[in-house]
Amino acid sequence: MKADISPGTVRRPSPETPAPTAKPRLTRRRVLKTAATLVGLSAAATAIYAGAIEPDGLVVTRYAPRPPGWPAGRKLSITVIADLHAGGPDMQLPHIRRIVDRAIALNSDIVLLLGDFIASYRFAITHVPDPVWAAELARLKAPLGTWAVLGNHDWWHDLQGVRSALAGVNIAVLENDAVLVGPDGAKFWVAGLGDQLAIPLGHGRFRGIDDLPLTLSRITTDDPVLLMVHEPDIFTRVPPRVALTFAGHTHGGQIRVPFLWQQFVPSRYGARFAYGHVVEHDRHLIVSGGLGTSIIPARLGVPPEIVHITLGA
Ligand SMILES: [Fe+2]
Repeated sequence: MKADISPGTVRRPSPETPAPTAKPRLTRRRVLKTAATLVGLSAAATAIYAGAIEPDGLVVTRYAPRPPGWPAGRKLSITVIADLHAGGPDMQLPHIRRIVDRAIALNSDIVLLLGDFIASYRFAITHVPDPVWAAELARLKAPLGTWAVLGNHDWWHDLQGVRSALAGVNIAVLENDAVLVGPDGAKFWVAGLGDQLAIPLGHGRFRGIDDLPLTLSRITTDDPVLLMVHEPDIFTRVPPRVALTFAGHTHGGQIRVPFLWQQFVPSRYGARFAYGHVVEHDRHLIVSGGLGTSIIPARLGVPPEIVHITLGA
C-alpha cells in the first residue's frame, strides 16, 4: 500500500490543532494492579533481606541492669552467647568465627552460653562438626570462665555430640547445678537449669529435666546468684534470691512480621518474655535474641546479637 503523501511534501501538525497525547486512564483495576505489584515487590525484597541479609548481621546489645540482688558497685561484665545453631545456612564457620572474634573483643569477666549450639534443619546444609564449633567457642577465654547450659535442639538432635564437644574443650555444662566463682570478698554463684523441653512426648508435649528447687539447693552461701536457663518461661517461678536470670530460646521472635510475630514466639507467655530486659516484681530477666535460626532460616527485625551486660555500673 502506498503512503498518501506526495514526494517532496512534509506534513506538519497545524499550530492550531495540537497533536493528541494518549493519557492512561486511572481506572480502579489499574490502581489495584499497581498496588499488588508494589506489595509483591516489597514482599520479595523483605524475604530476600530476611533470608540472606539480616541473618548474616551481628550486633552487640548492651544492658546495665541494677537488680536488687546484686551488690551495688560490684562490677562484673558478662558476655552472653545464645542459640548459635551452628551449621545452619546462616551459621557457617566464617560467621561463627566472626561472632567469637567480636565476643573476645568485649573482654568480659565471664562468658555464659545459653544452649542450642546446633542447627537441625531437615534440608541439606553444610555440616559444621561439633568439635569445630566447640573449638571456636573455646577461644572465649574469660577470667571467671565460660559456662554453659544445653538447649532443646541440643537435646532433641545431638545430645551426646554436643556434650562431648563441650567437654572436649573444657566448657562445663551446668544442669540443675551451681558453682561459686570470683575472688574472695566478691564471690557469686553461677547456676544452670536443665532444659525445660528436653524430652519430646509427641503431640507438641515435652518433659523437662529442669529442677529449680534442686538447682537452688546447690547454693549454700549468701553470695549473689546468676541463673542460666535456655527457655525463659521458668522465670515466673524464679525467686528474688536470684539476682539475674539469663535466657535464650525465643530468638526474639526471629521473624517479626508486624502484628503477627507474637503468635509464633515459642513460649506459653507469648511476647511477655520474648526479648530484652524484663523486670517483674523486682526480679530481673534478660532474654537474648540469639545468633542463629531454627525452623525457617530467616530473621526479620531481630538481628543476630551478642549480649553484653555490666553489673554494678
Ligand atoms: Fe534456638
